[in-house]
Amino acid sequence: GQIIGGREAAPHSRPYMAYLRVRRDEKWIRCSGFLVKPTVVLTAAHCQGEIITVVLGAHNVSQWEPSQQVIPVQRQIPHPQYNDTPKNNDIMILQLQGEAHHNKYVDFIKLPPAKQRVRPYTKCSVAGWGRTGPEKKQMSDTLWEADMAVMEDADCPRNQDGPYPYYDSTTMMCVGDPDEGSSSFKGDSGGPLVCGKKAQGIVSWGPEDGTPPAVYTRVTAFIPWIQETMKDLQP
Ligand SMILES: *[C@@H]1O[C@H](CO)[C@@H](O)[C@H](O)[C@H]1NC(C)=O
Repeated sequence: GQIIGGREAAPHSRPYMAYLRVRRDEKWIRCSGFLVKPTVVLTAAHCQGEIITVVLGAHNVSQWEPSQQVIPVQRQIPHPQYNDTPKNNDIMILQLQGEAHHNKYVDFIKLPPAKQRVRPYTKCSVAGWGRTGPEKKQMSDTLWEADMAVMEDADCPRNQDGPYPYYDSTTMMCVGDPDEGSSSFKGDSGGPLVCGKKAQGIVSWGPEDGTPPAVYTRVTAFIPWIQETMKDLQP
C-alpha cells in the first residue's frame, strides 16, 4: 500500500498506528497495523512473516524516537480461511510479547459493532508508512494520511478481466474515489481505514497501478472471530 495524494500526518495524531517490520524470505518488508488492546495489534494476513516486530508511538520510523515502544510479536494468527489468491479474509491478529504502555503517544482504536456497515460515500481516512506517490520509489520515513471515501460495491466490479476479479462485498470494502485520486497501496498494507473513531477497514489489495478504488478488508465481517480469538489468547 502507498498513500498517494495525501499529506504528512501531524506527529502522534494517530496513536493507535503500529509500524510493522516483517522478516520474510531473508528480506525485511514493512506493513502497518493498529493497536486494539495492550497486547493485540490487527493487520492484514498478507503481512505474515517469519518474524514481526511492532513499533508503537512512532512518527519517523527511520530514527529512534523517545516515544517509540518496540515490541516483538509472540504469535501471528492469520484468519484460518485466508487465501493468498484471492486475498479473501485478509486479516491477522498479532499477540505481542509484552503489553503496550498506554500514554499520549500510544493508544487503542475501537472496533465497530458487527452489524454496523459503513454507508457508501462516507468520508474516512487511512494512514501508513508506504510510498507517497506512484513515481517515488522511496518509502516514507514519516506517517502519511489521506482522506478516503467509501464507494459502492459496484465500483469494484467482480469481473474476471478487470482489476477486481475477487471482490466479495461480504468481506471486502471498495474504497477511494477515482475523482479524488488518493489511494493506498503496498507499504500501507494492514493499516486501518478510520471512519468516525472506528477502524472499519484494513488496507488489503488493489489495481497494480495504484489507481483507486482499492480493496479493504471489511472489519465488521470479522468481529465474532476477533472476539473469540482474543478471548482464547494465553498471556
Ligand atoms: C527521518 O529521520 C531520518 C534519520 O534521522 C532523517 O534523515 C529524515 O530526514 C527524517 N525524515 C523526515 C521527513 O523528517
